[in-house]
Amino acid sequence: MSQTLAPDAAAAAADAAPIVSVTGLGHVYPSREGPVHALADISLEVGQGKFVVIVGPSGCGKSSLLMMLAGLRHQSEGAILCDGRPMSDPDPDRVGVVFQEANLFPWLTAIENVAFPLALRKVPRAERQARAAAMLELVGLADARGRYPHELSGGMKQRVSIARGLVQNPKVLLMDEPFAALDEQTRMAMGEELLRIWSETGKTVVFVTHSLTEAVYLADEVLVMSARPGRIIDRVAVPLPRPRTYAMMASPVFGALRERIWQQIRASAR
Ligand SMILES: Nc1ncnc2c1ncn2[C@@H]1O[C@H](COP(=O)(O)OP(=O)(O)OP(=O)(O)O)[C@@H](O)[C@H]1O
Ligand SMILES: [Mg+2]
Repeated sequence: MSQTLAPDAAAAAADAAPIVSVTGLGHVYPSREGPVHALADISLEVGQGKFVVIVGPSGCGKSSLLMMLAGLRHQSEGAILCDGRPMSDPDPDRVGVVFQEANLFPWLTAIENVAFPLALRKVPRAERQARAAAMLELVGLADARGRYPHELSGGMKQRVSIARGLVQNPKVLLMDEPFAALDEQTRMAMGEELLRIWSETGKTVVFVTHSLTEAVYLADEVLVMSARPGRIIDRVAVPLPRPRTYAMMASPVFGALRERIWQQIRASAR
């Protein structure tokens, strides 16, 4: 057995009190061609402070599920509780969101972009400047606070987007393919950076990706979804110790987990 195995990690993941709990969730979109059955019978729990990754074939409903967890879209059936209360509307105190595109305002500087959600909530200027500066520091961009988005690299823009997702201090951070637009090296570095931020802040993260390597590298647990209608067909605990290292990607345990997830996705898409 590999020395990287830590059998207690899976048990610890299961033990943490759930901060997100989804029961019997299903969703049907109306469309011109008829109803699109996007999600079916989704039940899951995410323990406080855990890093959970969702993978599944394109179109299986991952983004839809995240939008519902964020309170940005209402499910057709089932219930979502976050921090013990239904998630019927967006609530930045409970949930922050980071999308694939950084979606920064081009006319605002990095710090103004990060502070923007606080301005919307009428947080006093001095406080929002201080909180946004602290978040830029956390993501390693203190020196770039006065730069506009066109003066930032793709990775830097995504860091600003993560800082903006965290600035309201949500309990849960939802991330929908946040690194998909980045080159492989930047993506790897961002994954490492995200794990550092996660361990420093103690946030709960729910992260969607198509990269199975990224999934196993980041996760405490990987939820595998089937092709549409998306259901959860496997829950894979990742028993690798933290901090994670690149060397672990070459371990037999890592390879076996990735293979198991790939086979499930392949079988479900047939
Ligand atoms: N507003 C909508 N109206 C109708 N159908 C929709 C709508 N949004 C999504 N769908 C459909 O629901 C299904 C799930 O879409 P969703 O974007 O959640 O999938 P996904 O897993 O995030 O895909 P990808 O991996 O490509 O990002 C797809 O078949 C999509 O076409
Ligand atoms: Mg999507």
